[in-house]
Amino acid sequence: MRVLVTGGSGRLGRSVVAVLADRGHEVTSVDLVDGPCPDGVRGVVADLLDDDARARVFAEARPEGVVHLAGIAVPFARPDLEILDINTRLAWAVLTDAVACGARCAVAASSPTVFGYNTPSWRPRYLPLDEEHPVAPWHAYGLSKLIIEETVRAVARTSGDCVVATVRPGYVIAPEEWEGAPTQQGHTVAERLANPELAAVSLFNYIDARDAGELFALILEHPERVANGQVFHAIAEDPLATRPLRELLPQFHPTTAGLAETLADSQAAFSSTAAFKALGWRARRQWRTELRENVQGGGGGAGS
Ligand SMILES: NC(=O)c1ccc[n+]([C@@H]2O[C@H](COP(=O)([O-])OP(=O)(O)OC[C@H]3O[C@@H](n4cnc5c(N)ncnc54)[C@H](O)[C@@H]3O)[C@@H](O)[C@H]2O)c1
Repeated sequence: MRVLVTGGSGRLGRSVVAVLADRGHEVTSVDLVDGPCPDGVRGVVADLLDDDARARVFAEARPEGVVHLAGIAVPFARPDLEILDINTRLAWAVLTDAVACGARCAVAASSPTVFGYNTPSWRPRYLPLDEEHPVAPWHAYGLSKLIIEETVRAVARTSGDCVVATVRPGYVIAPEEWEGAPTQQGHTVAERLANPELAAVSLFNYIDARDAGELFALILEHPERVANGQVFHAIAEDPLATRPLRELLPQFHPTTAGLAETLADSQAAFSSTAAFKALGWRARRQWRTELRENVQGGGGGAGS
């Protein structure tokens, strides 16, 4: 299938491009910045907010499937209005162009931050958080992601044969980050495990970038198994923590006390059952087997 990946030079995009190419798809990767492309992948540098440039990208790639990852990926990384403006305009432009050019499927990246954790009053209704749990974003990034999900649903209402969906990846760990490269927040995976305060801000969620790539690929390959407008979590089944979340969550998020007790020893605060039910997807890589560095009190160090 001809696939266009936006944001293909990014932390997640590089793995999504590699997974799609490995599965035999004809991939075009488009990004504001140049990045290394696997053999056979066409890399294009373009600003997707530029209407003419975007039209050229779609005309040349003629995508049958689109994975939309481009945007500002970190809360507070830019002024609020820029995050809202860039992320929401990009999603509308890319998804409507995907439908207009005749793609069979288009998938956009959202984020678990739509749930709105990290306010003193946030209290989940239940744990683990699944795709049905109510959302309540409070910062511009989380709100931009909820608007992207709403954009997907709006586009789905008139998209005809094109299935449009959303994936909420957990905290993305790229392959080199298991070897010690800094993660999105600047520290290493081992540091995130050794100091629970670091991962507490994302409720200890994570996902290997290749595992997330496999979910994007499965959605494009099997749109008939996806409800138009559907949301999927792409989050590991275990938490990025050396101790059970029923201990850690109430320590950092006091309003989860009681609810966290229902979580099993190695259970994450999120479930990705929608992707398993529709597509048989589950995260295959876990930090205990992937991490090359040792973590105080928690193992890791596979293969080292
Ligand atoms: N990394 C995570 O932990 C995480 C978690 C949940 C969701 N997400 C979402 O997944 C997506 C990818 O995240 P990432 O970590 O790879 O981010 P990233 O910043 O590494 O990659 C995003 C890419 O988008 C490109 N881009 C931005 N504006 C563009 C434009 N106008 N035209 C073309 N390209 C543009 C950037 O150059 C960048 O390479 C984002 O939408 C992000 O919000 C990421």
